[in-house]
Amino acid sequence: MNKVQITPFSGDLLDQVVLLLQQTLHADPISRSLFVRKVLIDPNFDPDGAPVAIVNGRIVGFGLSVARRLPLEDAPPDWDRGYITLLAVHPQHQRQGIGTALLQHMEDYLRSRERKLVLVSPYAPNYFTPGVDVNAYAGGLRFFLKHGYREVYRPISMDCNLLNLRVPEWVQQREQTLLQEGVTVEPYCPQLIPALFRFLRAEFPGDWQRFAREAIARIEQGDTPTRLWVAHEKGEVVGYSHFEGERFGPIGVAQSQRGRGIGQVLMYRTLQAMRLQGLHTAFFLWSDDRTAERLYNAAGFTETRRFALLRKEL
Ligand SMILES: CC(C)(COP(=O)(O)OP(=O)(O)OC[C@H]1O[C@@H](n2cnc3c(N)ncnc32)[C@H](O)[C@@H]1OP(=O)(O)O)[C@@H](O)C(=O)NCCC(=O)NCCS
Repeated sequence: MNKVQITPFSGDLLDQVVLLLQQTLHADPISRSLFVRKVLIDPNFDPDGAPVAIVNGRIVGFGLSVARRLPLEDAPPDWDRGYITLLAVHPQHQRQGIGTALLQHMEDYLRSRERKLVLVSPYAPNYFTPGVDVNAYAGGLRFFLKHGYREVYRPISMDCNLLNLRVPEWVQQREQTLLQEGVTVEPYCPQLIPALFRFLRAEFPGDWQRFAREAIARIEQGDTPTRLWVAHEKGEVVGYSHFEGERFGPIGVAQSQRGRGIGQVLMYRTLQAMRLQGLHTAFFLWSDDRTAERLYNAAGFTETRRFALLRKEL
């Protein structure tokens, strides 16, 4: 076997690394721009956690591990854990120990940052997928299991054909009933901002405030206010839903308000708004079977990918 050299990522390797990801991770279109946004300008990115494998001067492997340095807004601290969000070995160089070498390098890096647990790959906000795609990368899943990783659960991503979307009669009636009860569901307006952030901090601490902040900034610069839907009652926000391009979500209802149909109304309002923007498809990357049964299946969402979210104690 030719000698493998493992070196930390450096800027001059960018194009070759992106090409490798495109050639290897066939289910995940990763453009240079996406890599820049999700990796290189991430405040937690550290080249030492991003090993590149080189054989005869050619890049044949890449891995990305992250140890958070800056806390995620209001989220519970995760200093004890690290994340692996990418791992790829060129198809012609697989099964030669290169993936193992990259993985060892990443685990050593995370240990050196005092992480006790490693997760593949739910790193908010810049994960690529919630875990290993069990169909597209079945070999990748076996690889991680062989190295002592265990499945936590299997998140799913789903797509919905918006052209077929019909808002069921009962959802329309539910919205009327909610209105009579004092719950208004409407698109973003700036007056709702303080209550919206109060709600997000209390109910969904972490990444959701960023989604809302970025959506609001874009709306104030010309995007449609129907990108963001808010349910509110007596001056307090009780639910929120959002889309960006074809990506639907996040959507969430206050714990104490679940079961009233607010989530259904928010979902259909948002999907309808997407449809009226001319979009043909809505998708999301990360949900679970239970939510699919309770919410998404009836609206016409079908499973497109299934992932294994993995963990290992270091
Ligand atoms: C997963 C991956 C990074 C492993 O890299 P690698 O260099 O091939 O792995 P190694 O040679 O170090 O280890 C190989 C071991 O992993 C397991 N393994 C790897 N690929 C496998 C496959 N396609 N089928 C079954 N087992 C596999 C086996 O146990 C194998 O040992 P063996 O060859 O003695 O049977 C590489 O196969 C890859 O890039 N796959 C496509 C992308 C992917 O799945 N990435 C992970 C999810 S993001």
